[in-house]
This record gives sequence, structure tokens and C-alpha cells, in this order.
Amino acid sequence: MTHSTEPAADPGEITRAYHTRTKHRLERYAASPETLDWDMQPNPFREFEGCVHITLPLAAAQLDTSFRHVYATDRVRPAALSMASVSILMELSLGLSAWKQYGPDRWALRCNPSSGNLHPTEAYVLSSRVPSLEDGLYHYLSRDHKLEQRCRHAGTSDIVGHGTPSARLWIGLSSIHWREAWKYGERAFRYCQLDIGHALGALRYAAAALGWTARIVDQIGCAELTALMGLDRAEDFSGVEAEEPDLLLAIDPDPLINHSDSESYVHRVFEPTAGQWAGRANLLDPHKLYRWPVIDQVSRATRGGPAREQLDPVSYPPLPQIGEARAASIILNRRSAQHFDNKFTMGADSFFHMLDCLLNRPIAPWDVWTYTPRIHPIFFIHRVEGLEAGLYALPRHPAVARVLRDALRPDFVWQTLENAPAHLPLIKLMPVDCRSIARTVSCHQAIARDSCFSLGMLAEFEDIVKSNPWRYRQLHWEAGLLGHVLYLEAEAAGLRGTGIGCYFDDVLHDLFGMKSERFQSLYHFTVGYPLTDERITTLPAYPSRSDHH
Ligand SMILES: Cc1cc2nc3c(=O)[nH]c(=O)nc-3n(C[C@H](O)[C@H](O)[C@H](O)COP(=O)(O)O)c2cc1C
Repeated sequence: MTHSTEPAADPGEITRAYHTRTKHRLERYAASPETLDWDMQPNPFREFEGCVHITLPLAAAQLDTSFRHVYATDRVRPAALSMASVSILMELSLGLSAWKQYGPDRWALRCNPSSGNLHPTEAYVLSSRVPSLEDGLYHYLSRDHKLEQRCRHAGTSDIVGHGTPSARLWIGLSSIHWREAWKYGERAFRYCQLDIGHALGALRYAAAALGWTARIVDQIGCAELTALMGLDRAEDFSGVEAEEPDLLLAIDPDPLINHSDSESYVHRVFEPTAGQWAGRANLLDPHKLYRWPVIDQVSRATRGGPAREQLDPVSYPPLPQIGEARAASIILNRRSAQHFDNKFTMGADSFFHMLDCLLNRPIAPWDVWTYTPRIHPIFFIHRVEGLEAGLYALPRHPAVARVLRDALRPDFVWQTLENAPAHLPLIKLMPVDCRSIARTVSCHQAIARDSCFSLGMLAEFEDIVKSNPWRYRQLHWEAGLLGHVLYLEAEAAGLRGTGIGCYFDDVLHDLFGMKSERFQSLYHFTVGYPLTDERITTLPAYPSRSDHH
């Protein structure tokens, strides 16, 4: 018997190697299929055959919480946990928002955005003592706005030491990497993680509109999470695309509830081996033409969870409460802009407010992110009233500003702005017309040039990923969450945003003078005044339902 002398690959090395090989370069895009046939797109909807289906009511449009109150949860009376309120939570986070039609093509849009509209994220509801909903695990099928009952659990009345158990709810998120890899090849794992960040943001905003709190359950291991969501049930997934668990979110209607017991509670309530399971997952793509083994590798290398990190909080003045629009209408009308009016200049107040919303305050949606901010946007500002066009930075934590300064070009000016709110850490780096370079950096996409501003999201990368490769996922989730705030804030300001996953990584790094992997850009974004394509028809999200909006 021979033994290999090769050292076992270190998960941190695998993860960093994956990141490097999936960079888009000016001379060569990351490996992906050479040809694409849209008729071969995998089914965008996972469903389970052979289980009980529960049709949820469509009630979100009637929710009258105003958007500004999602940032002031004490202004929203918490809705009681019920089938109707769970339904609103799902509809306003992961439900369909419209169908679109252009010629013979018809496609669904959802409240959560997704790279290429491919939607790799799946959601599971775990409910305990919610009136009219049996205790157990449900898969959410956005196409029909219904729950598929995957597992029935015994009642929770036998739980000792808790008095009468109150209604509780958790949402589990998983990814079907193939749905994204089918089109984007090796880079797809990154997009799946960004989409999880958006889904997390979408859930947090929807929960806030119901007056609820939400928290990531981060003391749960990958194996436990897989079992809890039933993703390890080989016979239910045999021959079909696997789902990779990502995170569990505890939702609570009672702001005073002690969240610290969520971890142990979820285990006591849901013992997967004791439940009654039903349902078989559908096959999404019967004709897979490619394989991308590095996705499975990086997925394995980044399993795990956080070593508890102490949040180093900074206190900011309360966010000004602007606007009267209803939260549901902002959320249901959120769309990605495909073209921008390249003459439009946005107001400075809207711009500063949007950036203010990116700071980590202990209110929605950032109260879900109980970690030190590790993502720091750098801006290409084109047309914002009272601001010189140029490159800017927003270090989201004071401790990072100095490190960032050492990592970026020595000729940057590092000026604070007189007209910006004093607490906003927005820094001018270089006045310059950066429209053309912004377009080049984002894979030559005109949306990065014609908007009012576009940005890259710099992550504190090398040390973090080395010390805990799971945090490669976590950094993308934070970037996705930032993107989600920008999407909804742009909508609230009468503008529109678009996430940008396609960018030339090192072109951006070189432009800003970065010579190491200390910081890496994980996501780009752009905001401006949208031009809409009138040829595309908009149809209702749930046309066959009599209760649709
Ligand atoms: C992670 C991510 C990356 C994206 N990258 C791009 C991009 O590079 N270019 C683009 O035009 N749109 C991009 N989008 C926008 C999606 O195409 C859009 O979200 C999707 O088509 C669904 O449309 P909707 O956002 O209007 O619901 C991205 C979205 C996300 C969430």
C-alpha cells in the first residue's frame, strides 16, 4: 500500500484558489459554457412530489406599514404569528412580484433579485405552534405561493421548562448551485452566495414590515442544518440536483423575546429522525452538458460556521425618516434597471441617505448582521448634485480606514466632504471623470457608466478567509445585503439599482492601487434614473389566483 506524500489540501487554500481562478480578466472570462441554449435552462422551480401542499393567501399588498417604519420597528405593531402573517413574510421576501413577457418569452420576477434571474436560492419554513400550521418543515414554492409539507413533527407541548411554548418560526436557506452554474460556469458559486445575501435582506425587510425581529442562528453546524432542512435524505434527492444548506434565520414577532435560546430551542422542537417525512425533489435539468467540479470543492471547503466574533459597535445618529410610500409597494415594485438616463443628476440628500442606510445600525436590516462590517464600498461617482465626479470610499468601520489607506494608491487625496452629514465616513479619493473606466471595470456594461454612481464592494479578504474559509460565504452574504439595501433605497428615492456580478476583478484592484489580496472586490452595483423598455409587458405575479394584487 502506498501513501501519498501530498499534504491534504487546506480548505483556506482551496477557497482562495477558487477565488483567483474565477476572476474575470480582460483577456479571458472565468470558465463557463461556450454556448448557451436558453431552451435548455433548468427548471427555475424546485418542487416536491407526494407531500401535502398548503396554498398561502396573497395578502401582502394590504399591509400598510410605511417603508420608513421598517427602520423604526417600534413604530410597527408586531403582527401575530399566523398562517396569514407567515404568508406575507414569504410573499414579500421570496415570492413572485410579476411575470414579464417579450414576444414568445415569459419569465417570472421575484421580490429577491438573482444573478441572471436564475434563482438558485431555496427557502424552508420551520414552524412551531403557528396557528393553522402543523409543526414541522415546509418547502416554499414561490411559483404558486404555497408550502409543501416535508416533515411533520410531534407537538411541542411536551417541551419542559418553557411553560406554554409560544409560536416560533425559522427560515432555512439553501442553494442549488447547478441552476446558476448552468449559465455562469465556475464563477457561479460566488453568485449563489450573493443571492443568499439578497434573500437574507429580503427576509429581514419583510419581517420588519410585520414588526418582527430576525437573527441568524449561527451556532448551528453544517451537518445539523442539512438534517434540519432534510437535505441529507438521499432517497428524496436521488438522481436530482442537490441542495447545499447556507443559513438559518430565527424570526420572532415579539421584540422582547430572548433570542439566545433559538439554537437549543430549534433542536428540541425539530428532531429530524423523529419526524414523518414526505416528498421527492424534482429533477431540474435532465441534460447537463457540463460539470464544474471546483464548485463542489469550494462548497465543501467553505462549510462550517462562524467562530463567534464580537461586534465592535459604532453608534451613529438615528436614520432620518423619509418618505410616505408603503413598504409592500416598494418591495413588490423593486426591479433591476437595464438602462439609465445618462443625463440625470441625483440629489445629494438622496445620495447621502442611501449611503447612511449602509451603515451598521442596530435596526433592520443590519440588526441581522451582528458581526463587524467587513465590506467597504468604493464609488465611481458620475452625477450627484454638489459632488465632484470621481472615486470615493465609504469605510464602514473606523478601524478599517487606516488599513484601507495603506492598501490603496498613495496619490489619493483622502478628503472628507463638507456637505456630507458629519457622521458619514464618505471620503473623496480622486476627482476624475470615471464614466468610461467604470464601464470597463464592470465587464463593459453601460449600466455602470450611465447611472448616477456605481461601486465596487471591497471585502477584508485574505486574513479572514485564511482563518476561517466559511467566511468566504459570509463576506458574500454581507455584500448581497448591502446590495439589497441599495435596491430598496433606490426604489424609495424614485430611482433604480442593478446588482453587477460581472466585473474584471483585478482591473478594479489595479485601478485603486491594490497590490495584495488583503482586500478583494466581491460585488458591484449601480444606481440611477431608469429607462424602461416599453416592449416588455408586465403581468400579475399570480394571475390565476382570485386574491392576487
Ligand atoms: C448577484 C447578482 C448579480 C447580478 N449581476 C448583473 C450583471 O452583471 N448585469 C446585469 O445587467 N444585471 C445583473 N444582475 C441583475 C439580475 O439580472 C436581476 O436581478 C434579475 O434579472 C432579476 O430581475 P429583477 O432584479 O428586476 O427582479 C445581478 C443580480 C444579482 C442579484
